[in-house]
Parts: sequence; structure tokens; C-alpha cells
Amino acid sequence: MSREVRTVGVVGLGAMGSGIAQLAVEAGFETVGHEMAPERAEAARDRIAHFLTRKVEKEQLDPDARDAALERLRLTTDLSDLGGCDIVIEAAFEDLGVKHDLFRELGRVVRPDAILATNTSALSVTEIASVLERPERAVGMHFFNPAPLMPLVEIVRAERTADDVMEAAAALGERFGKTPVRCLDTPGFVVNRVLIPLLNDCVRVLDEAAVEPQDLDTAMKLGAGWPMGPCALLDLVGVDVHVHASEALYEKLGEPRIAPPARLVEMLEAGKLGRKSGEGFFTYP
Ligand code: 3HC
Repeated sequence: MSREVRTVGVVGLGAMGSGIAQLAVEAGFETVGHEMAPERAEAARDRIAHFLTRKVEKEQLDPDARDAALERLRLTTDLSDLGGCDIVIEAAFEDLGVKHDLFRELGRVVRPDAILATNTSALSVTEIASVLERPERAVGMHFFNPAPLMPLVEIVRAERTADDVMEAAAALGERFGKTPVRCLDTPGFVVNRVLIPLLNDCVRVLDEAAVEPQDLDTAMKLGAGWPMGPCALLDLVGVDVHVHASEALYEKLGEPRIAPPARLVEMLEAGKLGRKSGEGFFTYP
């Protein structure tokens, strides 16, 4: 059985991991954040402090609550410091080899009843968990970018995930203020199975219909009710992240719409990754 979650570990403190760590500290959990380099860990703390301070400025959060939340965040570059966590959510680079190394090591350092969750968006949770001695303790917890704002978490049942692990992950998602949707470990789960080919079609339409990114975004916002346009969304997610996820899903599903369009691959090769590089479809200061 899963014990009550008191301490949450987050491995990888990039855009997704730092957002997940922010959710954990805001929800009152002692949180241990792991990054490879101390500068990257500190950058994540700064990012979390920035967004919590914005909430204080907008009177959505009390300054004392912000300070208490930040005090709950401990940073480390040593995976063994996650040994006391009741659940670890891995949000590292989307590469099976990287995730296998992490899961092997995490499997060694955490207690036998701890839960190991992965925030993978396009890899198989079952494959990631295959290196564990106790794959029944592994589950997918897939958050959406930006994690602090998007209200969904997909709770992904891998081949051997235990029922109590599914329920504990869903309950934690709810404690983070999210609505959990339970699903099987199929390529792209629910949202990305639909969203990735859709975004790729949006990019193809740019050339097919000769529209500028700004006009495509306007069209999808005003004609389809999207909260932000597809080009702005790709810039937010990161062209590199999207192309990588498209390739991983294309490898599994083989549907031509899922393969990344040439225009996106060219942007990736030119280093136009979106917000993170200062330029994608649009430019950012
Ligand atoms: N982390 C934490 N807080 C953040 C943040 C972040 N990354 N980004 C913004 N905020 C905070 C800011 O403090 C901001 O306030 P400020 O501008 O006054 O400082 C506050 O949130 C509100 O931000 P916005 O005014 O931009 O909020 P909006 O009401 O415009 O909504 C949105 C923004 C929720 C992103 C909305 O535009 C939306 O829903 N967009 C669609 C996003 C989407 O589809 N995401 C899924 C991507 S696919 C994915 O993630 C799958 C993965 O596997 C690739």
C-alpha cells in the first residue's frame, strides 16, 4: 500500500519540473528538487520565486505563504537525497536512456513503497519502468505546460502499475489543484495523441494556405475558441520539445500527420526554439 505523501521529489527542474515543484510547495509538501548542476537548480528556485511573487503582487497569495512555500523547497544535485521522498516525479529530458539511468538509480535510493512517477509526454511509461525491480510502483503523471496554470494531469497506468499507485497519484494531482484523468499507457496518452498531429497540421496550413503565423493564431482563437494560437503554443512548448515528441509518436504510430513538418524541423535546426531561445514563430525580448 502507498503511504501518505508528505515529501515530494522532482527530478529535472526545467520548465515542467520547476512548474511541478512550484505546485508541490504551494500545496504544502516538503519538496526536494534535483538538477544536474547547482546553477540550473538555483535558476528553478528563482523562477518559482518569481511566479509566487507575481501572485503576491496580484493579491492571490499572502507574502508569508510565499515565504513558507519557498522554504519547503530543498535543492540537490545528488539523487540519494531523494531517498526520503514518498513520491518522486521525474521530469528530465525525454530520452529513454536518460530516464532508464534515473529510474535505476531512484529504484535503489527510495523506500520500497515509494512511488516513482514520470512526466513523460511521448515515451512509454511501461518501457521507462522496465528497469525497476518493482515496476508496480511506477506510474505516469503527465502535466501540461505551463504546469502551474493548466488544470489537467493525466494519470497513466503502465502495464504493471498497482491500483493503489494509480489512486495515490490521482489523489496527489488533486492536492496540486489538478483534475486527474486516468488512461492507459498508449502513445501520446489522451491529449498529445490528438494535439500533436493537430499542431503539425496547423504548421502545414501556414504554407498550404499562405497565412502568416499571426493570422493562423487569430483564426484558431476566433474560429475555434483556442485560448492561444497554435504558433504561440508551439513557441511556449518549445519547437525542440514538440519535434522530439512528434518523432517519438511517429515512430510508434506511423501516421504521416504525426511526423513533424519540414518547416518545424528547419526551425529546430536554425535554433528557433520559441520563447526559450528568444525566437520561434514570434520574437521574445
Ligand atoms: N509558470 C508559473 N506561472 C506562470 C507561468 C509559468 N510558466 N506562466 C505564466 N504564469 C503566471 C504569471 O505570473 C502570469 O501572470 P503575469 O503575466 O501577471 O505575471 C499568470 O500566470 C497568468 O498568465 P497569463 O495572463 O498569461 O494567463 P492567461 O489567462 O493568458 O492563460 C494560459 C495562459 C493558461 C497559458 C492559456 O493561454 C492557455 O491555456 N494556453 C494553452 C496552453 C496549452 O494548451 N498548453 C498545453 C501544451 S501541450 C503540453 O504541455 C503537452 C506536453 O507534453 C508538451
